[in-house]
Amino acid sequence: MKKQLAIVLDFGSPYSHLIARRVREHGVYCEVVPSTKPTEYLIEKEPLGIILTGGTSSVLASGSPLCSAELFNAGIPILGIGYGAHLMAHLNGGVVSASAKSECGEVTLNIAKPTSPLFNGAQAVSTCWMSHTDEISTLPDGFSTTASTDACSCAAMENPDKKLFAVQFHPEATVTDCGSKVLANFLFDICGFAGDWKMADYVKNTIAELKAKIGDKKVICGLSGGVDSTVSAVMVHKAIGQNLTCVFIDHGLLRKDEGDMVEEMCLSTFKMNFIRINAQEQFLGKLAGVSDPEKKRTIIGEEFIRAFEVAGKKIGKVDFLVQGTIYPDVIESGVGDAALVKKHHNVGGLPDVIDFEEIIEPLRLLFKDEVRKAGLELGIDEALVWRQPFPGPGLAVRIIGDITKDKTFILQEADAIFREEIAKAGLDRSINQYFAVLTDIRTVGVTDDSRTYDYTVALRGVTTTDFMTADFARIPYDVLAQVSTRIINEVGHVNRVVYDITPKPPATIEWE
Ligand code: XMP
Repeated sequence: MKKQLAIVLDFGSPYSHLIARRVREHGVYCEVVPSTKPTEYLIEKEPLGIILTGGTSSVLASGSPLCSAELFNAGIPILGIGYGAHLMAHLNGGVVSASAKSECGEVTLNIAKPTSPLFNGAQAVSTCWMSHTDEISTLPDGFSTTASTDACSCAAMENPDKKLFAVQFHPEATVTDCGSKVLANFLFDICGFAGDWKMADYVKNTIAELKAKIGDKKVICGLSGGVDSTVSAVMVHKAIGQNLTCVFIDHGLLRKDEGDMVEEMCLSTFKMNFIRINAQEQFLGKLAGVSDPEKKRTIIGEEFIRAFEVAGKKIGKVDFLVQGTIYPDVIESGVGDAALVKKHHNVGGLPDVIDFEEIIEPLRLLFKDEVRKAGLELGIDEALVWRQPFPGPGLAVRIIGDITKDKTFILQEADAIFREEIAKAGLDRSINQYFAVLTDIRTVGVTDDSRTYDYTVALRGVTTTDFMTADFARIPYDVLAQVSTRIINEVGHVNRVVYDITPKPPATIEWE
């Protein structure tokens, strides 16, 4: 049976992949396609529905991204969102003009036409997320308004005969009350999707695609020890077996005992080709005296490459390099239009020193929770799949200020205690990321009647679904108290423990 496909036609919105993820959450397979692809290409793929994303341009500006007007006559159901809604109006003879009052944020949405198939089951009045400075001022022939807000007379429109629907607001945003319903109505009632796509299909298809792409060529994968690189490696291993060599560079900035756990998993559980490079001294040497977070990342990125070079020499020429990049890494690294937040060392071109042809990133389109689902589908142990996300630069971005062996040891011990207590309290699945940070602050304390001048450890715990925004986890005081007592009693040179209560934004999850 032919795979049912939804296309998300990307007009440059930073949320295009979030829309795709929402579509997948409804059990519908979907691909994000750049708006520059010709209409014939889109039609040939025989999608059951197309979603036009928002974008950062104005349809009124010259050179703004367009699709062809014929797309709207192809008989394929289309949902335009934000900029996509404007395009639908503009290319069908309507008028888009600058709004008298732009809207950005949570706004009250009034359904004007409750019989609209898009709003079936939605509340008459609800909250939606708006972000626009233009609006549809004259509807194209054959269209009618289906929703409005105080400032926007056409917050949604439709031409049900042509199966064309548009919303000015953002259904992908969680604050849009009817967002999930609108997408479900579009996908199921209007497009006719069965909604039976599962992560197992993604895994199966990706393995098949990897097999076809790689053939009997050689692949190298850098394992960081984190969930993303583990899942990527196992996926490629399932596709090509022993033609994959995993290289694990131990930079000495891993969590307590983690290096040995990674080795055990690769060698015993999955029986992979595995090379461990113990580069602890090399990394610490290069990092000595460096306090600037981005400099630390750059150094670690460079040293990884050096270490890879060593591994590369052992392995010889390879055709592909696998990386465990996931979607939030892609946008937070400023790939595409999104602004740079942090330079994630694991994204971007590795220089010419490594002899490989191409990078493979099997998880590039997935969010963290989807990566975990994929990991379970691949048969990876739950304990491994549910490990904390861990940044490539490791504890380097959790030791504020310069890095030394002693500080690394203190942090590893404190972090292990924190993780142990969180697991004991049964909170390890509900808190999405939690770890200790060794601040560069030393303060006065008192132990056994003696004055101490020691480090402050900060604990960080966040709840999030996509790691792009996050709230601090409401860890019960008695759990925090137990962690604090244990850290003070069991780890030397720490006399103060604090808990970080800042959401993201304005803070980031990591301290550096
Ligand atoms: P932030 O601190 O940017 O973190 O809110 C978002 C997610 O990304 C992880 N992170 C990194 N991962 N290399 C990585 O591979 C990095 O340089 C890096 N910095 C942050 C962080 O742990 C969180 O899950």
